[in-house]
Amino acid sequence: MAVNSGTSGLHLVMQALNIGPGDEVITTPFSFVASANCILMVGAKPVFVDIDPVSLNMDPAKLEAAITPRTKAIIAVETFGNPMHMDTYAAIAAKNEIPMVEDCCEALGTVYKGRPAGHFGRVGVFGFYPNKQITTGEGGMIVTDDERLAEVCRSLRNQGRPLNAPTPLETKEGNTGGTPVGSWLKHERLGYNFRLPEINAALGVAQMRRLDEIIEKRQAVARMYIDRLGGNPHLVMPTVSPETLMSWFVFVVRLAPSYTADERDRVIRGLRRQDIGTADYFPCIHLQSFYQHHFGFRPGMFPIAETVSQRTLALPFFNDLTSREIDSVAQALEVMIGQENLTRT
Ligand SMILES: Cc1ncc(COP(=O)(O)O)c(C=O)c1O
Repeated sequence: MAVNSGTSGLHLVMQALNIGPGDEVITTPFSFVASANCILMVGAKPVFVDIDPVSLNMDPAKLEAAITPRTKAIIAVETFGNPMHMDTYAAIAAKNEIPMVEDCCEALGTVYKGRPAGHFGRVGVFGFYPNKQITTGEGGMIVTDDERLAEVCRSLRNQGRPLNAPTPLETKEGNTGGTPVGSWLKHERLGYNFRLPEINAALGVAQMRRLDEIIEKRQAVARMYIDRLGGNPHLVMPTVSPETLMSWFVFVVRLAPSYTADERDRVIRGLRRQDIGTADYFPCIHLQSFYQHHFGFRPGMFPIAETVSQRTLALPFFNDLTSREIDSVAQALEVMIGQENLTRT
């Protein structure tokens, strides 16, 4: 089901699963904020589980420990597109008879243990914002083989219209051979306008045809970065398990644990001064001001996510980056790290 953003897709899925006030939904604190906002949008309570420092996804043991009788779903995010543990989360969800929602917004085209992202949860949600592997401008896609869930999502994204609602053109008399006039304005449930416009869909179709080529280019760029920076003792490279074919959403490295968040921020500012677009990615969700204010989350609650988040550097990453450009990013990064070390002692 195409929708007008990944956020809309996650919101619809929460609603279609009948999640609401009094329910708990488990997810990661180390993701884009929409992974948890969708829980708030239906009035449920987000329960965060700290991450493992290798995959940067939820720690499976901590996930299992966080399940309570109120848990109504697990939102498993492939953070930075890394699918590690998805099969384990799915097994935990099945054992506890809880639906797993796969937030695969960052993982289009990734394959783990022979299964593509989007195939692990009872339902998966992709996103097509311009920073993603492919884009529709804005847009998203819900995938499931649960027919009933699909039906409710289709209706909810389309103002709560019944599934067989005709388009406005079809309702014009004489156009359809009998569709009753006015049925376009029949609404069975409280719905939204989360439809993906045709123009954006056309862009997505053209982009999907190029997906293999795009992924190959991204894999080549990631490989060049790893070859160039992999031996640097001040940096932690992204970890990809041997069972993973990554489609590479972003290229995020971390400064070694001895570096502080201030040092990382100075490195970012230094790179930006040289027109090298670099960012901290992501701040923890539980530390966003409204999460702290409304739910009492505080620094220190999810220490691994916080430590990782304080040291991330999202380096420039796009399909056509050249080895020369990567070399100049790497050189500038090495200089900035060297400067931090000079001022340390
Ligand atoms: C993990 C994750 N979930 C959800 C979203 C939301 O998608 P969108 O920006 O299309 O609403 C994004 C990306 O933007 C994301 O990275």
